[in-house]
Amino acid sequence: MRVDIDNLVSHAKQARKNAYAPYSNFSVGAAVLACDRIYHGCNVENASYGLTMCAERVAIFKAVSDGCRSVDAVAIYAEPKAYPCGACLQVMAEFCSEDCKVIVAGKNVVEVYALSELLPHIFSKDTF
Ligand code: THU
Repeated sequence: MRVDIDNLVSHAKQARKNAYAPYSNFSVGAAVLACDRIYHGCNVENASYGLTMCAERVAIFKAVSDGCRSVDAVAIYAEPKAYPCGACLQVMAEFCSEDCKVIVAGKNVVEVYALSELLPHIFSKDTF
């Protein structure tokens, strides 16, 4: 699957504008390439802090709730750049395709990873 990395990063940067982050003041945007479409997400915080949802999971769940279960790339944009948290990596492990790319981007920085680099010992349905 060919991924236009710069395009996906600019979608993630745009999605960040909708972040609801009044508690951390850390806005995050995500863009997911899945089933030949781009899904957007932003972090959505809550006064009950533990209910906060990360940008990447919002975007992936939008894809899945649209009937798409195969994610080819996830871009995450923040300033400064932020690596996906463990919960988001685990959700990626569930829905990412074999050669899925994880793109970590911020001001003047774009890093591209395989999911296995960020989560080397994956717990998945293949484990049991
Ligand atoms: N956040 C994300 O959106 N994605 C991550 O992978 C890491 C953390 C958000 C959650 C929270 O709203 C803010 O960043 C600070 O933790």
